[in-house]
Amino acid sequence: MASGRLAVAATAVLIGTFGTLGCSASSGESAATSAVTDGALPDAGTAQLHKGRIGAAGIGDPDFPTDGNGGYDVDRYRLKLAYDPPAKHLSGMAGIEARTTQDLSRFNLDLSGFKVAGVTVNGAAARFARTGDELVVTPAKTIPNKTAFTVEVTYSGEPKPVRDSSNLGTYGFIPTSDGAFVACEPNGAKTWFPGNDHPADKARYDFEITVPEGVTALANGELVGDPVTAGGKTTFTWRETHPMVSYLATMTLGRFEIREGKTAAGIKNVAAVDPRYSGSLDNLYTLSGKITDYWSTVFGPYPFSSTGGVIDNFSAGYALENQTKPMYGGFNPGDDVIAHELAHQWFGDSLSIRRWKDLWLNEGFATYAEWLWSEHKGNAGADRIFRTHYATPADAAIWKYAPGRAKPDDLFNGSVYTRGGMTLHALRQRIGDPAFFTLLKTWNAQHKYGYVTTEEFTALAEKVSGKQLDSLFDAWLFAPQKPTSW
Ligand code: ARG
Ligand code: ZN
Repeated sequence: MASGRLAVAATAVLIGTFGTLGCSASSGESAATSAVTDGALPDAGTAQLHKGRIGAAGIGDPDFPTDGNGGYDVDRYRLKLAYDPPAKHLSGMAGIEARTTQDLSRFNLDLSGFKVAGVTVNGAAARFARTGDELVVTPAKTIPNKTAFTVEVTYSGEPKPVRDSSNLGTYGFIPTSDGAFVACEPNGAKTWFPGNDHPADKARYDFEITVPEGVTALANGELVGDPVTAGGKTTFTWRETHPMVSYLATMTLGRFEIREGKTAAGIKNVAAVDPRYSGSLDNLYTLSGKITDYWSTVFGPYPFSSTGGVIDNFSAGYALENQTKPMYGGFNPGDDVIAHELAHQWFGDSLSIRRWKDLWLNEGFATYAEWLWSEHKGNAGADRIFRTHYATPADAAIWKYAPGRAKPDDLFNGSVYTRGGMTLHALRQRIGDPAFFTLLKTWNAQHKYGYVTTEEFTALAEKVSGKQLDSLFDAWLFAPQKPTSW
């Protein structure tokens, strides 16, 4: 039934759009649009259009200048999506509830590929143009600053994942034999829905996903009601009520074996595996539960409504900490990686970075969590693991890459992970266990569901410990050579 609704609505918008909107910009708009095409960011401070101002084509992260957008802040996405695996066809209606942060005469959404059939703003048809991965929307009227507005984008086509040339591999919406593997860090959300694709704009998400009967759709948060099947299609409604970064959104599709229950501490726990990984279902379920409960005692209460994990049949070569549903890309995860992805629910998901340069606040902490789990299990302690890494020769790559400043062309460098984790161990040695573990809890409590920066962390570490820590952080996070002490 719901799928019928989606199809009918999409057709209506398509018909209403033909001949009236199209992609051609009017003369008043074309100069500014070509500035976007050139890769330059329109200056939000001076650019004038009509009576308002043009939202910037990027959110302001100098390392990823066109990721995210300026001029507004999204509060909620309402994504109605239908996907047909054999045809690899996605049709979508993306509703976006946002609020302006300036007078807004024009704004961008990030969207890669697809044919856009129509865009409305506050229910009225808006002009739009495509340029690279930017969908440039000109509402009929300028929206005043600090005003709520809604956008609806109707689009369809074959989703194309990002195939990165450096070390990011393939990410975004990745079609698989039975559905799709959807893991989007750092900026692959734009491969399946239009939005503000940068971690500095968290939002709530409603998903209504229609797939052929027999296919399961797994998105973030919780199912709202039972899936509804009609006419050979099933619609799954999922809702993530906690703020979420765009790269953590998922709509992973396929055939899954599912185990559901509660952790010992009472947190809802859902594990799902592609049938190829049946043998891992119980281990994924049990270990995810135990680790979630343990992290809740070390980092503070679990921030979301459920925990668990998904193993899908795409060999991504990585895992991703998708909010409430970490995803393991085509392998049987062991203790280390499960401990890592679940630690990200606190570090990365609840507490999110505003700028990619601060990525060690995610990856360094999640890596250190692996060592803490090993220590907790009575295996190698964090200090032993630290010393093994510290024994790496001084001319090794890890010492040349300063983890406190992640590089955009090599974001997920091993240094951001391992030397980031070592930084936390150096800190723990310096300030002692009581201050260190108080710091981890205070950090989480202070920034729950919010944003964090490296400066805020180092300041809090000094405050909690009462120690001057500049030289420690300089040596471990920012110096392009091997630190000599901790
Ligand atoms: N945050 C993930 C992890 O460390 C890594 C994501 C890598 N993303 C990618 N496109 N390769 O668990
Ligand atoms: Zn990680």
